[in-house]
Amino acid sequence: MPPPNTFPYTMCDDIFEQKNMFLDHVLAERRSYRMFKGEVPPKDDIHRILHAGLLAPFAAAAIGTPQDYFRRFFVMTIGSKSMKSVIPLVMNEVNTMADDIDQKMEKSPELRAQAISFVQRLGRIKQLGTVPGIGTAPYYIIVAERRGFPSIGLQSLAHCMENMWLKATALELGFQLVSITSQMSDNPEFCRILGIAMGEWDLMGCAVGYPQEELSPSIRPPVDTLTRWLE
Ligand SMILES: Cc1cc2nc3c(=O)[nH]c(=O)nc-3n(C[C@H](O)[C@H](O)[C@H](O)COP(=O)(O)O)c2cc1C
Repeated sequence: MPPPNTFPYTMCDDIFEQKNMFLDHVLAERRSYRMFKGEVPPKDDIHRILHAGLLAPFAAAAIGTPQDYFRRFFVMTIGSKSMKSVIPLVMNEVNTMADDIDQKMEKSPELRAQAISFVQRLGRIKQLGTVPGIGTAPYYIIVAERRGFPSIGLQSLAHCMENMWLKATALELGFQLVSITSQMSDNPEFCRILGIAMGEWDLMGCAVGYPQEELSPSIRPPVDTLTRWLE
């Protein structure tokens, strides 16, 4: 005969192990997808992803108690008027950034060494004539976070994006960060399209869709090789 209470304890242990097993799977399967199928995922999936983003932490002390909510979501679908309007705006931003860094690099060899791979990436985007993730996936999602004081919106947005990324992974959708979006927060036309006041919000973006092909789970070095337990 099993001792009394064995059954409930075993069930708790099972649920604990299952929760951790599923979470570990999702964490390992989260990857950057950059090639998407044309098929558009259902709006309900996007809704669930946004809800995950809403559950992410926010910088309560920096935000204070604004009357309106401090986080906003904007969803653009491929082929929509809004997506067609933002593509050239973001491309312009890429060109401006590339020219600006080029000029600065001419004066600073240290910056040249530091920025070389970023500049190469901007060069590839210029060659492609399109920003990866905007118009290359069924959805381009932008999240806005009120800047607050000290301005800490981008950190909150990183948490928000990670929650959305993990949820997209659990829904077996591909997710790509579109970090150039953060450069658009002071672009008047971009902010006008979103309907937000320029300068008050930080922005971050991502692309979501069905991945063209599945990627293997993340490969990382053993965590012990990177960890020091301090006395
Ligand atoms: C702050 C930040 C910005 C990023 N920006 C982009 C981006 O604009 N486009 C992109 O394709 N990936 C972007 N990534 C994704 C990284 O390139 C990716 O996470 C990394 O190469 C590891 O690959 P994995 O996500 O498949 O594990 C970004 C990641 C971080 C943390």
